[in-house]
Amino acid sequence: MKRSIAAAILVALAFLPIAAAQAQEKAPEPSLIELWQKSGHGNSQSSAFTHWNDEGEIPVNCAACHSGEGFRAFHGLDGSTPGGVDQPIATGGVVDCATCHEDGIKEIATIRFPSGAEITPPRGTATCLTCHQGRAAGNSVDQQTANMVDDEVNVELAFVNPHYAVAAATLFGSQVKGGYEYPGQDYSGQFAHVDAFSSCIDCHDPHSTQVKELSCTSCHEGETLRTIRTSKTDFDGDGDVTTGIYSEISSLKAKLLLAIETYAAERTETPITYASRYPYFFIADTELTYANRYNAWTPALLRAAYNYQFVTMDKGAYAHNPHYAVQVLHDSITDLAHRAPGINIELGPRP
Ligand code: HEC
Ligand code: HEC
Ligand code: HEC
Ligand code: HEC
Ligand code: HEC
Repeated sequence: MKRSIAAAILVALAFLPIAAAQAQEKAPEPSLIELWQKSGHGNSQSSAFTHWNDEGEIPVNCAACHSGEGFRAFHGLDGSTPGGVDQPIATGGVVDCATCHEDGIKEIATIRFPSGAEITPPRGTATCLTCHQGRAAGNSVDQQTANMVDDEVNVELAFVNPHYAVAAATLFGSQVKGGYEYPGQDYSGQFAHVDAFSSCIDCHDPHSTQVKELSCTSCHEGETLRTIRTSKTDFDGDGDVTTGIYSEISSLKAKLLLAIETYAAERTETPITYASRYPYFFIADTELTYANRYNAWTPALLRAAYNYQFVTMDKGAYAHNPHYAVQVLHDSITDLAHRAPGINIELGPRP
Protein backbone atom coordinates (compact mmCIF):
# COMPACT_ATOMS: atom_id res chain seq x y z
CA MET A 1 0.00 0.00 0.00
CA LYS A 2 1.32 3.49 -0.80
CA ARG A 3 2.65 5.23 2.33
CA SER A 4 0.38 8.25 2.05
CA ILE A 5 -2.71 6.09 1.70
CA ALA A 6 -1.68 3.83 4.56
CA ALA A 7 -1.15 6.91 6.72
CA ALA A 8 -4.51 8.35 5.74
CA ILE A 9 -6.23 5.08 6.55
CA LEU A 10 -4.62 4.98 9.97
CA VAL A 11 -5.81 8.50 10.54
CA ALA A 12 -9.27 7.55 9.30
CA LEU A 13 -9.48 4.61 11.68
CA ALA A 14 -8.35 6.72 14.60
CA PHE A 15 -10.76 9.54 13.88
CA LEU A 16 -13.86 7.80 12.62
CA PRO A 17 -15.68 7.80 15.94
CA ILE A 18 -15.00 11.48 16.38
CA ALA A 19 -17.17 14.12 14.75
CA ALA A 20 -16.10 14.87 11.21
CA ALA A 21 -15.59 18.54 12.01
CA GLN A 22 -13.06 17.68 14.70
CA ALA A 23 -11.24 15.28 12.38
CA GLN A 24 -10.92 18.11 9.90
CA GLU A 25 -8.54 20.02 12.14
CA LYS A 26 -6.06 17.22 12.68
CA ALA A 27 -6.17 14.79 9.78
CA PRO A 28 -3.95 15.30 6.74
CA GLU A 29 -6.71 14.16 4.32
CA PRO A 30 -9.77 15.34 6.19
CA SER A 31 -12.00 16.17 3.28
CA LEU A 32 -11.44 12.77 1.71
CA ILE A 33 -12.34 10.94 4.92
CA GLU A 34 -15.36 13.15 5.39
CA LEU A 35 -16.50 12.54 1.84
CA TRP A 36 -16.30 8.80 2.39
CA GLN A 37 -18.16 9.04 5.70
CA LYS A 38 -21.04 10.82 3.98
CA SER A 39 -21.21 8.27 1.15
CA GLY A 40 -23.30 5.13 1.14
CA HIS A 41 -20.08 3.13 1.44
CA GLY A 42 -19.39 4.59 4.88
CA ASN A 43 -22.98 4.50 6.15
CA SER A 44 -23.02 1.78 8.80
CA GLN A 45 -26.78 2.34 9.37
CA SER A 46 -27.73 1.50 5.79
CA SER A 47 -29.82 -1.59 5.12
CA ALA A 48 -26.96 -2.78 2.87
CA PHE A 49 -24.88 -3.28 6.03
CA THR A 50 -27.47 -3.92 8.76
CA HIS A 51 -29.64 -6.48 6.93
CA TRP A 52 -27.93 -9.38 8.76
CA ASN A 53 -27.73 -7.85 12.25
CA ASP A 54 -30.33 -10.21 13.68
CA GLU A 55 -28.41 -13.27 12.51
CA GLY A 56 -25.09 -11.80 13.67
CA GLU A 57 -23.19 -12.90 10.57
CA ILE A 58 -23.25 -12.30 6.85
CA PRO A 59 -23.64 -15.51 4.81
CA VAL A 60 -20.78 -16.46 2.48
CA ASN A 61 -22.77 -15.70 -0.68
CA CYS A 62 -23.55 -12.14 0.43
CA ALA A 63 -20.40 -11.06 2.29
CA ALA A 64 -18.12 -10.19 -0.66
CA CYS A 65 -20.14 -7.08 -1.44
CA HIS A 66 -21.64 -6.20 1.93
CA SER A 67 -18.51 -5.78 4.06
CA GLY A 68 -14.87 -4.85 3.50
CA GLU A 69 -13.79 -7.96 5.38
CA GLY A 70 -15.95 -10.14 3.13
CA PHE A 71 -14.50 -8.42 0.05
CA ARG A 72 -10.94 -9.17 1.19
CA ALA A 73 -11.86 -12.78 1.88
CA PHE A 74 -13.49 -13.09 -1.56
CA HIS A 75 -10.32 -11.97 -3.32
CA GLY A 76 -8.05 -13.94 -1.00
CA LEU A 77 -6.38 -10.77 0.31
CA ASP A 78 -6.66 -12.13 3.86
CA GLY A 79 -4.66 -15.21 2.94
CA SER A 80 -7.70 -17.37 2.16
CA THR A 81 -8.37 -18.99 -1.23
CA PRO A 82 -9.51 -16.39 -3.78
CA GLY A 83 -12.80 -16.76 -5.66
CA GLY A 84 -15.19 -17.15 -2.76
CA VAL A 85 -15.81 -16.46 0.91
CA ASP A 86 -15.10 -19.59 2.99
CA GLN A 87 -16.81 -18.65 6.24
CA PRO A 88 -19.59 -16.28 7.29
CA ILE A 89 -18.34 -12.76 8.12
CA ALA A 90 -19.17 -10.84 11.29
CA THR A 91 -21.70 -8.01 10.83
CA GLY A 92 -20.77 -4.38 11.41
CA GLY A 93 -18.49 -3.83 8.42
CA VAL A 94 -18.93 -1.24 5.67
CA VAL A 95 -17.01 -0.57 2.43
CA ASP A 96 -14.03 0.59 4.47
CA CYS A 97 -10.79 2.25 3.29
CA ALA A 98 -8.90 -1.03 3.08
CA THR A 99 -11.56 -2.46 0.74
CA CYS A 100 -9.99 -0.37 -1.98
CA HIS A 101 -6.47 0.16 -0.63
CA GLU A 102 -5.38 -3.22 0.75
CA ASP A 103 -2.16 -4.62 -0.70
CA GLY A 104 -2.95 -6.89 -3.60
CA ILE A 105 -5.93 -4.96 -4.98
CA LYS A 106 -3.89 -3.69 -7.93
CA GLU A 107 -2.90 -7.27 -8.80
CA ILE A 108 -6.52 -8.43 -9.31
CA ALA A 109 -6.29 -9.18 -13.02
CA THR A 110 -9.78 -10.35 -13.95
CA ILE A 111 -13.29 -9.94 -12.61
CA ARG A 112 -15.82 -12.66 -13.25
CA PHE A 113 -19.44 -11.58 -13.86
CA PRO A 114 -22.61 -13.61 -13.09
CA SER A 115 -22.86 -14.67 -16.78
CA GLY A 116 -19.43 -16.29 -16.46
CA ALA A 117 -17.78 -13.63 -18.65
CA GLU A 118 -14.49 -12.20 -17.40
CA ILE A 119 -13.25 -8.63 -17.73
CA THR A 120 -9.82 -7.07 -17.21
CA PRO A 121 -10.74 -4.17 -14.95
CA PRO A 122 -9.70 -0.65 -15.98
CA ARG A 123 -7.18 0.90 -13.55
CA GLY A 124 -8.59 1.42 -10.07
CA THR A 125 -11.94 -0.29 -10.70
CA ALA A 126 -11.48 -3.98 -9.80
CA THR A 127 -13.22 -3.10 -6.54
CA CYS A 128 -16.21 -1.39 -8.14
CA LEU A 129 -16.62 -4.19 -10.70
CA THR A 130 -16.67 -6.84 -7.97
CA CYS A 131 -19.54 -5.32 -6.04
CA HIS A 132 -21.55 -3.50 -8.71
CA GLN A 133 -21.99 -6.43 -11.11
CA GLY A 134 -25.32 -7.78 -9.83
CA ARG A 135 -26.05 -11.37 -8.95
CA ALA A 136 -27.77 -12.70 -12.08
CA ALA A 137 -27.41 -12.46 -15.85
CA GLY A 138 -29.53 -13.09 -18.91
CA ASN A 139 -28.42 -16.72 -18.86
CA SER A 140 -29.80 -17.13 -15.30
CA VAL A 141 -33.23 -16.61 -16.91
CA ASP A 142 -32.42 -19.16 -19.62
CA GLN A 143 -31.42 -21.71 -16.99
CA GLN A 144 -34.76 -21.27 -15.20
CA THR A 145 -36.86 -21.52 -18.35
CA ALA A 146 -35.04 -24.34 -20.17
CA ASN A 147 -37.43 -26.70 -22.00
CA MET A 148 -40.53 -24.69 -21.09
CA VAL A 149 -43.12 -23.37 -23.55
CA ASP A 150 -42.73 -19.58 -24.06
CA ASP A 151 -46.32 -18.56 -23.28
CA GLU A 152 -47.34 -21.27 -20.87
CA VAL A 153 -47.62 -20.48 -17.15
CA ASN A 154 -45.25 -22.64 -15.13
CA VAL A 155 -45.67 -22.69 -11.36
CA GLU A 156 -42.03 -23.62 -10.93
CA LEU A 157 -40.91 -20.25 -12.28
CA ALA A 158 -39.98 -17.50 -9.83
CA PHE A 159 -38.83 -13.95 -10.54
CA VAL A 160 -35.10 -13.64 -11.21
CA ASN A 161 -33.81 -10.47 -9.53
CA PRO A 162 -30.58 -9.05 -10.95
CA HIS A 163 -29.90 -7.44 -7.51
CA TYR A 164 -28.97 -3.78 -6.88
CA ALA A 165 -26.76 -1.03 -8.31
CA VAL A 166 -25.70 -3.20 -11.24
CA ALA A 167 -23.71 -0.37 -12.89
CA ALA A 168 -20.81 -2.52 -14.09
CA ALA A 169 -23.10 -5.04 -15.75
CA THR A 170 -24.71 -2.21 -17.71
CA LEU A 171 -21.43 -0.49 -18.57
CA PHE A 172 -19.87 -3.56 -20.17
CA GLY A 173 -23.12 -4.42 -21.96
CA SER A 174 -23.04 -7.46 -24.17
CA GLN A 175 -19.47 -8.25 -23.12
CA VAL A 176 -20.84 -9.47 -19.78
CA LYS A 177 -24.46 -10.14 -20.79
CA GLY A 178 -26.14 -8.77 -17.69
CA GLY A 179 -29.40 -8.19 -19.57
CA TYR A 180 -31.55 -10.88 -21.15
CA GLU A 181 -30.47 -10.78 -24.81
CA TYR A 182 -33.06 -12.03 -27.29
CA PRO A 183 -31.76 -14.54 -29.84
CA GLY A 184 -30.98 -13.08 -33.26
CA GLN A 185 -30.40 -9.51 -32.06
CA ASP A 186 -27.07 -7.64 -31.80
CA TYR A 187 -26.29 -5.84 -28.55
CA SER A 188 -23.82 -3.06 -27.73
CA GLY A 189 -20.70 -3.96 -25.78
CA GLN A 190 -18.88 -1.66 -23.39
CA PHE A 191 -20.01 2.00 -23.56
CA ALA A 192 -16.75 3.55 -24.73
CA HIS A 193 -18.02 7.15 -24.33
CA VAL A 194 -14.79 9.21 -24.46
CA ASP A 195 -11.41 7.95 -23.22
CA ALA A 196 -11.12 10.26 -20.24
CA PHE A 197 -14.64 9.37 -19.01
CA SER A 198 -14.93 5.66 -19.61
CA SER A 199 -14.32 4.06 -16.21
CA CYS A 200 -16.14 4.21 -12.88
CA ILE A 201 -13.60 6.52 -11.25
CA ASP A 202 -13.39 8.84 -14.28
CA CYS A 203 -16.98 9.87 -13.62
CA HIS A 204 -17.40 9.08 -9.90
CA ASP A 205 -15.27 10.37 -7.05
CA PRO A 206 -14.21 7.09 -5.39
CA HIS A 207 -14.61 8.53 -1.88
CA SER A 208 -17.87 10.49 -2.05
CA THR A 209 -19.11 8.15 -4.85
CA GLN A 210 -20.75 11.26 -6.37
CA VAL A 211 -20.65 11.93 -10.12
CA LYS A 212 -18.09 14.66 -10.89
CA GLU A 213 -20.79 16.65 -12.62
CA LEU A 214 -18.72 19.77 -13.27
CA SER A 215 -16.31 17.80 -15.43
CA CYS A 216 -19.11 16.82 -17.81
CA THR A 217 -20.05 20.31 -18.91
CA SER A 218 -16.85 20.96 -20.86
CA CYS A 219 -18.44 18.80 -23.56
CA HIS A 220 -22.10 18.65 -22.52
CA GLU A 221 -22.39 22.40 -22.28
CA GLY A 222 -25.31 23.87 -20.40
CA GLU A 223 -26.65 20.44 -19.45
CA THR A 224 -27.40 18.80 -16.13
CA LEU A 225 -26.75 15.05 -15.91
CA ARG A 226 -30.26 14.01 -16.81
CA THR A 227 -30.64 16.42 -19.74
CA ILE A 228 -27.50 15.20 -21.57
CA ARG A 229 -28.36 14.03 -25.08
CA THR A 230 -26.09 13.20 -28.02
CA SER A 231 -28.10 10.38 -29.66
CA LYS A 232 -30.13 11.81 -32.54
CA THR A 233 -32.57 8.89 -32.83
CA ASP A 234 -36.10 9.00 -31.42
CA PHE A 235 -35.86 5.62 -29.66
CA ASP A 236 -39.20 5.84 -27.83
CA GLY A 237 -41.11 7.11 -30.86
CA ASP A 238 -42.64 10.16 -29.17
CA GLY A 239 -41.36 12.54 -31.84
CA ASP A 240 -39.11 14.42 -29.37
CA VAL A 241 -35.32 14.11 -29.58
CA THR A 242 -34.51 17.12 -27.43
CA THR A 243 -35.05 15.49 -24.02
CA GLY A 244 -32.16 13.87 -22.16
CA ILE A 245 -31.33 10.26 -22.96
CA TYR A 246 -32.42 9.70 -19.34
CA SER A 247 -36.02 10.61 -20.29
CA GLU A 248 -35.91 8.44 -23.38
CA ILE A 249 -35.01 5.42 -21.22
CA SER A 250 -37.64 6.31 -18.59
CA SER A 251 -40.28 6.48 -21.28
CA LEU A 252 -39.26 3.08 -22.68
CA LYS A 253 -39.39 1.62 -19.17
CA ALA A 254 -42.95 2.88 -18.73
CA LYS A 255 -43.88 1.34 -22.09
CA LEU A 256 -42.34 -1.99 -21.12
CA LEU A 257 -44.24 -2.04 -17.85
CA LEU A 258 -47.48 -1.44 -19.75
CA ALA A 259 -46.58 -4.29 -22.12
CA ILE A 260 -45.86 -6.58 -19.16
CA GLU A 261 -49.24 -5.76 -17.59
CA THR A 262 -51.12 -6.23 -20.86
CA TYR A 263 -49.39 -9.53 -21.61
CA ALA A 264 -50.15 -10.90 -18.13
CA ALA A 265 -53.79 -9.88 -18.45
CA GLU A 266 -54.13 -11.54 -21.86
CA ARG A 267 -51.90 -14.60 -21.58
CA THR A 268 -52.12 -15.63 -17.92
CA GLU A 269 -55.11 -15.70 -15.60
CA THR A 270 -53.29 -13.49 -13.12
CA PRO A 271 -52.88 -9.71 -13.46
CA ILE A 272 -49.45 -8.33 -12.51
CA THR A 273 -48.23 -5.12 -10.88
CA TYR A 274 -44.78 -3.69 -10.05
CA ALA A 275 -43.73 -1.97 -6.82
CA SER A 276 -40.31 -0.72 -5.80
CA ARG A 277 -40.03 -3.17 -2.94
CA TYR A 278 -38.90 -6.76 -2.68
CA PRO A 279 -39.88 -9.00 -4.49
CA TYR A 280 -41.02 -6.28 -6.95
CA PHE A 281 -43.66 -8.07 -9.02
CA PHE A 282 -46.96 -8.73 -7.26
CA ILE A 283 -50.41 -10.05 -8.10
CA ALA A 284 -52.34 -6.89 -8.99
CA ASP A 285 -54.92 -5.56 -6.53
CA THR A 286 -53.54 -7.47 -3.56
CA GLU A 287 -51.59 -6.23 -0.56
CA LEU A 288 -47.89 -5.85 -1.44
CA THR A 289 -46.61 -8.70 0.70
CA TYR A 290 -44.18 -11.48 -0.08
CA ALA A 291 -47.09 -13.96 0.02
CA ASN A 292 -48.71 -12.03 -2.83
CA ARG A 293 -45.62 -12.06 -5.04
CA TYR A 294 -46.42 -12.69 -8.68
CA ASN A 295 -46.71 -16.44 -9.29
CA ALA A 296 -48.01 -16.98 -12.83
CA TRP A 297 -44.81 -16.54 -14.83
CA THR A 298 -44.42 -17.70 -18.38
CA PRO A 299 -40.89 -17.81 -19.80
CA ALA A 300 -41.65 -14.83 -22.09
CA LEU A 301 -43.02 -12.78 -19.19
CA LEU A 302 -40.05 -13.61 -16.99
CA ARG A 303 -37.53 -12.48 -19.64
CA ALA A 304 -39.23 -9.12 -20.09
CA ALA A 305 -39.71 -8.59 -16.33
CA TYR A 306 -36.04 -9.40 -15.74
CA ASN A 307 -34.99 -6.75 -18.27
CA TYR A 308 -37.35 -4.21 -16.75
CA GLN A 309 -35.73 -4.75 -13.37
CA PHE A 310 -32.20 -4.87 -14.82
CA VAL A 311 -32.56 -1.34 -16.19
CA THR A 312 -34.51 -0.12 -13.14
CA MET A 313 -31.84 -1.36 -10.71
CA ASP A 314 -29.21 0.83 -12.37
CA LYS A 315 -30.14 4.44 -11.73
CA GLY A 316 -27.25 5.48 -13.96
CA ALA A 317 -28.06 3.17 -16.88
CA TYR A 318 -28.50 6.23 -19.11
CA ALA A 319 -24.84 7.16 -18.54
CA HIS A 320 -23.37 3.67 -18.05
CA ASN A 321 -24.57 2.32 -21.40
CA PRO A 322 -27.56 4.16 -22.86
CA HIS A 323 -27.82 2.10 -26.03
CA TYR A 324 -27.62 -1.27 -24.30
CA ALA A 325 -30.44 -0.15 -21.98
CA VAL A 326 -32.54 0.97 -24.95
CA GLN A 327 -31.86 -2.31 -26.78
CA VAL A 328 -32.99 -4.63 -23.98
CA LEU A 329 -36.10 -2.49 -23.32
CA HIS A 330 -36.99 -2.29 -27.02
CA ASP A 331 -36.58 -6.02 -27.59
CA SER A 332 -38.61 -6.92 -24.50
CA ILE A 333 -41.51 -4.74 -25.66
CA THR A 334 -41.33 -6.09 -29.21
CA ASP A 335 -41.23 -9.71 -28.06
CA LEU A 336 -44.28 -9.33 -25.80
CA ALA A 337 -46.16 -7.39 -28.49
CA HIS A 338 -45.84 -10.41 -30.83
CA ARG A 339 -47.51 -12.54 -28.18
CA ALA A 340 -50.34 -10.35 -26.88
CA PRO A 341 -52.45 -8.56 -29.51
CA GLY A 342 -53.65 -5.97 -26.99
CA ILE A 343 -50.16 -4.47 -26.78
CA ASN A 344 -50.31 -1.45 -29.03
CA ILE A 345 -47.15 0.50 -28.32
CA GLU A 346 -45.41 2.97 -30.65
CA LEU A 347 -41.62 2.60 -30.74
CA GLY A 348 -38.95 4.47 -32.64
CA PRO A 349 -35.90 2.79 -34.25
CA ARG A 350 -33.69 0.45 -32.20
CA PRO A 351 -30.04 1.55 -31.81
C1 HEC B 1 -17.31 -4.17 -1.14
C2 HEC B 1 -18.32 -3.82 -2.11
C3 HEC B 1 -18.27 -2.48 -2.81
C4 HEC B 1 -17.21 -1.91 -3.47
C5 HEC B 1 -15.79 -2.42 -3.58
C6 HEC B 1 -17.72 -0.73 -4.10
N1 HEC B 1 -19.04 -0.55 -3.78
FE1 HEC B 1 -20.20 1.01 -4.28
N2 HEC B 1 -21.66 0.33 -3.06
C7 HEC B 1 -21.63 -0.86 -2.36
C8 HEC B 1 -22.78 -0.94 -1.51
C9 HEC B 1 -23.12 -2.09 -0.58
C10 HEC B 1 -23.52 0.25 -1.72
C11 HEC B 1 -24.81 0.68 -1.02
C12 HEC B 1 -24.44 1.46 0.18
C13 HEC B 1 -25.61 1.93 0.98
O1 HEC B 1 -26.75 1.72 0.59
O2 HEC B 1 -25.35 2.55 2.06
C14 HEC B 1 -22.78 1.01 -2.71
C15 HEC B 1 -23.19 2.25 -3.21
C16 HEC B 1 -22.57 2.90 -4.26
C17 HEC B 1 -23.11 4.07 -4.95
C18 HEC B 1 -24.46 4.73 -4.68
C19 HEC B 1 -24.30 6.01 -3.94
C20 HEC B 1 -23.95 5.79 -2.50
O3 HEC B 1 -22.95 6.39 -2.03
O4 HEC B 1 -24.66 5.03 -1.82
C21 HEC B 1 -22.19 4.41 -5.92
C22 HEC B 1 -22.31 5.56 -6.91
C23 HEC B 1 -21.10 3.47 -5.82
N3 HEC B 1 -21.35 2.58 -4.81
C24 HEC B 1 -19.99 3.49 -6.65
C25 HEC B 1 -18.86 2.70 -6.44
C26 HEC B 1 -17.61 2.87 -7.14
C27 HEC B 1 -17.34 3.91 -8.20
C28 HEC B 1 -16.76 1.93 -6.64
C29 HEC B 1 -15.31 1.70 -7.00
C30 HEC B 1 -14.40 2.85 -6.81
C31 HEC B 1 -17.49 1.16 -5.65
N4 HEC B 1 -18.76 1.66 -5.55
C32 HEC B 1 -16.96 0.10 -4.94
C33 HEC B 1 -20.66 -1.81 -2.44
C34 HEC B 1 -19.40 -1.61 -2.99
C1 HEC C 1 -22.02 -8.97 -6.29
C2 HEC C 1 -22.18 -8.18 -5.10
C3 HEC C 1 -23.34 -8.48 -4.17
C4 HEC C 1 -23.66 -9.69 -3.60
C5 HEC C 1 -22.94 -11.02 -3.76
C6 HEC C 1 -24.80 -9.44 -2.76
N1 HEC C 1 -25.15 -8.11 -2.84
FE1 HEC C 1 -26.71 -7.22 -1.88
N2 HEC C 1 -26.22 -5.42 -2.70
C7 HEC C 1 -25.12 -5.20 -3.48
C8 HEC C 1 -25.01 -3.78 -3.75
C9 HEC C 1 -23.91 -3.10 -4.58
C10 HEC C 1 -26.07 -3.16 -3.08
C11 HEC C 1 -26.33 -1.67 -2.94
C12 HEC C 1 -27.46 -1.13 -3.69
C13 HEC C 1 -27.70 0.29 -3.32
O1 HEC C 1 -28.40 0.53 -2.34
O2 HEC C 1 -27.17 1.19 -3.99
C14 HEC C 1 -26.82 -4.23 -2.42
C15 HEC C 1 -27.97 -4.03 -1.66
C16 HEC C 1 -28.57 -5.01 -0.91
C17 HEC C 1 -29.66 -4.77 0.00
C18 HEC C 1 -30.30 -3.42 0.29
C19 HEC C 1 -31.42 -3.20 -0.66
C20 HEC C 1 -32.15 -1.92 -0.37
O3 HEC C 1 -33.24 -1.81 -0.91
O4 HEC C 1 -31.62 -1.07 0.32
C21 HEC C 1 -30.00 -5.98 0.54
C22 HEC C 1 -31.09 -6.26 1.56
C23 HEC C 1 -29.11 -6.97 -0.03
N3 HEC C 1 -28.27 -6.34 -0.91
C24 HEC C 1 -29.15 -8.30 0.27
C25 HEC C 1 -28.25 -9.24 -0.19
C26 HEC C 1 -28.27 -10.64 0.18
C27 HEC C 1 -29.29 -11.26 1.12
C28 HEC C 1 -27.23 -11.24 -0.45
C29 HEC C 1 -26.81 -12.69 -0.41
C30 HEC C 1 -27.84 -13.66 -0.64
C31 HEC C 1 -26.56 -10.20 -1.23
N4 HEC C 1 -27.20 -9.01 -1.05
C32 HEC C 1 -25.45 -10.43 -2.04
C33 HEC C 1 -24.25 -6.15 -3.98
C34 HEC C 1 -24.28 -7.49 -3.67
C1 HEC D 1 -14.57 2.35 -3.13
C2 HEC D 1 -13.12 2.38 -3.12
C3 HEC D 1 -12.40 3.32 -2.19
C4 HEC D 1 -12.62 3.50 -0.85
C5 HEC D 1 -13.69 2.87 0.02
C6 HEC D 1 -11.59 4.40 -0.40
N1 HEC D 1 -10.79 4.78 -1.44
FE1 HEC D 1 -9.17 6.00 -1.37
N2 HEC D 1 -8.96 5.89 -3.37
C7 HEC D 1 -9.68 5.05 -4.20
C8 HEC D 1 -9.21 5.21 -5.55
C9 HEC D 1 -9.76 4.46 -6.77
C10 HEC D 1 -8.17 6.17 -5.51
C11 HEC D 1 -7.33 6.66 -6.66
C12 HEC D 1 -7.96 7.85 -7.30
C13 HEC D 1 -7.36 8.12 -8.65
O1 HEC D 1 -6.30 7.58 -8.99
O2 HEC D 1 -8.00 8.86 -9.38
C14 HEC D 1 -8.03 6.57 -4.12
C15 HEC D 1 -7.09 7.48 -3.66
C16 HEC D 1 -6.83 7.70 -2.32
C17 HEC D 1 -5.74 8.54 -1.83
C18 HEC D 1 -4.79 9.31 -2.69
C19 HEC D 1 -5.18 10.76 -2.78
C20 HEC D 1 -6.27 11.02 -3.78
O3 HEC D 1 -7.19 11.80 -3.46
O4 HEC D 1 -6.22 10.46 -4.89
C21 HEC D 1 -5.81 8.50 -0.46
C22 HEC D 1 -4.91 9.21 0.53
C23 HEC D 1 -6.94 7.64 -0.11
N3 HEC D 1 -7.54 7.18 -1.26
C24 HEC D 1 -7.33 7.35 1.18
C25 HEC D 1 -8.51 6.70 1.51
C26 HEC D 1 -9.04 6.62 2.87
C27 HEC D 1 -8.39 7.19 4.10
C28 HEC D 1 -10.22 5.94 2.78
C29 HEC D 1 -11.23 5.65 3.90
C30 HEC D 1 -11.73 6.84 4.58
C31 HEC D 1 -10.40 5.58 1.39
N4 HEC D 1 -9.37 6.07 0.64
C32 HEC D 1 -11.48 4.84 0.91
C33 HEC D 1 -10.70 4.21 -3.83
C34 HEC D 1 -11.24 4.13 -2.55
C1 HEC E 1 -19.90 8.38 -18.10
C2 HEC E 1 -19.82 8.59 -16.68
C3 HEC E 1 -20.06 7.41 -15.77
C4 HEC E 1 -19.35 6.23 -15.71
C5 HEC E 1 -18.21 5.78 -16.61
C6 HEC E 1 -19.88 5.48 -14.59
N1 HEC E 1 -20.90 6.17 -14.01
FE1 HEC E 1 -22.06 5.54 -12.49
N2 HEC E 1 -23.33 7.08 -12.77
C7 HEC E 1 -23.14 8.10 -13.67
C8 HEC E 1 -24.32 8.95 -13.69
C9 HEC E 1 -24.52 10.18 -14.54
C10 HEC E 1 -25.22 8.38 -12.75
C11 HEC E 1 -26.65 8.83 -12.42
C12 HEC E 1 -26.71 10.02 -11.57
C13 HEC E 1 -28.14 10.46 -11.42
O1 HEC E 1 -28.88 10.55 -12.41
O2 HEC E 1 -28.53 10.72 -10.27
C14 HEC E 1 -24.55 7.21 -12.20
C15 HEC E 1 -25.12 6.39 -11.23
C16 HEC E 1 -24.45 5.34 -10.61
C17 HEC E 1 -24.96 4.57 -9.50
C18 HEC E 1 -26.31 4.76 -8.83
C19 HEC E 1 -26.21 5.85 -7.84
C20 HEC E 1 -27.38 5.96 -6.93
O3 HEC E 1 -27.63 7.09 -6.47
O4 HEC E 1 -28.04 4.94 -6.66
C21 HEC E 1 -24.01 3.64 -9.19
C22 HEC E 1 -24.08 2.60 -8.10
C23 HEC E 1 -22.91 3.83 -10.10
N3 HEC E 1 -23.21 4.88 -10.95
C24 HEC E 1 -21.75 3.09 -10.10
C25 HEC E 1 -20.85 3.09 -11.15
C26 HEC E 1 -19.83 2.07 -11.35
C27 HEC E 1 -19.56 0.93 -10.41
C28 HEC E 1 -19.21 2.36 -12.52
C29 HEC E 1 -18.16 1.55 -13.25
C30 HEC E 1 -18.56 0.19 -13.59
C31 HEC E 1 -19.81 3.58 -13.05
N4 HEC E 1 -20.80 3.97 -12.19
C32 HEC E 1 -19.42 4.23 -14.21
C33 HEC E 1 -22.03 8.31 -14.46
C34 HEC E 1 -21.06 7.34 -14.71
C1 HEC F 1 -14.51 15.10 -23.76
C2 HEC F 1 -15.91 15.31 -24.01
C3 HEC F 1 -16.89 14.66 -23.04
C4 HEC F 1 -16.91 14.74 -21.68
C5 HEC F 1 -15.98 15.50 -20.75
C6 HEC F 1 -18.08 13.99 -21.25
N1 HEC F 1 -18.73 13.46 -22.32
FE1 HEC F 1 -20.46 12.42 -22.30
N2 HEC F 1 -20.41 12.21 -24.31
C7 HEC F 1 -19.40 12.69 -25.13
C8 HEC F 1 -19.60 12.17 -26.47
C9 HEC F 1 -18.70 12.42 -27.67
C10 HEC F 1 -20.76 11.36 -26.43
C11 HEC F 1 -21.36 10.49 -27.55
C12 HEC F 1 -20.74 9.13 -27.36
C13 HEC F 1 -21.39 8.00 -28.10
O1 HEC F 1 -22.60 8.04 -28.34
O2 HEC F 1 -20.68 7.01 -28.39
C14 HEC F 1 -21.24 11.43 -25.06
C15 HEC F 1 -22.39 10.77 -24.63
C16 HEC F 1 -22.85 10.84 -23.34
C17 HEC F 1 -24.11 10.27 -22.90
C18 HEC F 1 -25.14 9.53 -23.77
C19 HEC F 1 -26.07 10.52 -24.41
C20 HEC F 1 -26.93 9.93 -25.49
O3 HEC F 1 -27.84 10.64 -25.96
O4 HEC F 1 -26.70 8.77 -25.91
C21 HEC F 1 -24.20 10.51 -21.57
C22 HEC F 1 -25.36 10.15 -20.66
C23 HEC F 1 -23.00 11.20 -21.16
N3 HEC F 1 -22.21 11.41 -22.26
C24 HEC F 1 -22.71 11.56 -19.86
C25 HEC F 1 -21.54 12.19 -19.47
C26 HEC F 1 -21.22 12.46 -18.10
C27 HEC F 1 -22.08 12.11 -16.91
C28 HEC F 1 -20.00 13.11 -18.10
C29 HEC F 1 -19.22 13.63 -16.93
C30 HEC F 1 -18.95 12.69 -15.83
C31 HEC F 1 -19.59 13.23 -19.48
N4 HEC F 1 -20.54 12.64 -20.28
C32 HEC F 1 -18.43 13.84 -19.92
C33 HEC F 1 -18.38 13.53 -24.74
C34 HEC F 1 -18.05 13.85 -23.44
